[in-house]
Amino acid sequence: MQKDTFSFLDDGPDLGGLSQVDLERPNVARMYDYGLGGAHNFAVDRRQVDLMHRINPEGPLCPRANRDFLRRAVQFCAGQGIDQFLDLGSGLPTVGNVHEVAQEINPDARVVYVDNEAIAVEHTRRILADNDLATIVHADLRQPDTILAEEETLRLLDFSRPVALLIVAALHYVDTNPGIVLNRYRDALAPGSYFVGSHLTGDDRPDIMRAIQEKVFSESSTPLTVRTREEVTALFDGFELVEPGVVYTSDWRPGPEDYQPRIAGEVTMTWAGVGRKP
Ligand SMILES: C[S@@+](CC[C@H](N)C(=O)[O-])C[C@H]1O[C@@H](n2cnc3c(N)ncnc32)[C@H](O)[C@@H]1O
Repeated sequence: MQKDTFSFLDDGPDLGGLSQVDLERPNVARMYDYGLGGAHNFAVDRRQVDLMHRINPEGPLCPRANRDFLRRAVQFCAGQGIDQFLDLGSGLPTVGNVHEVAQEINPDARVVYVDNEAIAVEHTRRILADNDLATIVHADLRQPDTILAEEETLRLLDFSRPVALLIVAALHYVDTNPGIVLNRYRDALAPGSYFVGSHLTGDDRPDIMRAIQEKVFSESSTPLTVRTREEVTALFDGFELVEPGVVYTSDWRPGPEDYQPRIAGEVTMTWAGVGRKP
């Protein structure tokens, strides 16, 4: 482990109490953090991301375009009057966290983050220590009943009113039946709620994506399952897609604040969409 990583990991040899962290295997939360320029990652994570960028020169665009999509989608939902957010697979806190984006528009907005990676959870907990309107639950998003009944979830979210459910760049770590998991969340949402989703794909880069799956993610603690645009669109069943439908992250209502260095024809390899529950 390199010593340049976390402030709270310097608390002691038990990684600040996070003894369950597997330092030998790359983890997607920390790889994504590295891809976004963050410091909450280990050498094993960085090695895999560097390998991915050698396989795919377009690679650096993907996490940035995804993060930009997340920001725009949260701004969109807040603009529609949504003041409650359930963010599953929320990741390591970095610039433009959901509570910051939402609370800039509505200071009373409430956010429940969920992640199953111990460092992401601990870091989020520390960042939110003074924020009564945002919290993190350490759980597996494939356990909707647990998450929906969790005390912290119910402390902040009122499911009789619309909620924005965010599962951004996380469902591709669910290998079987993501639709069944989603149905359970959708059924718990009031009419007027939104589902914001993004998902990795190999549609336009099949060989590159296959190499990434085999060489980069097979060793990680969360192997990657990519899906076609049709399969990703089906995840929005029961929601009415808002314009422009399911498109690459960079094409979903792009704005002036977005990450700019783009090469013509580059694709983010991530489908994205926002749907409203009628
Ligand atoms: C690529 S990051 C995306 C972070 C954030 N949603 C974003 O788009 O900026 C994916 C996150 O999903 C989390 N994750 C993966 N599988 C999960 C699961 N089964 N339950 C909860 N979180 C999960 C990972 O730990 C990681 O933090």
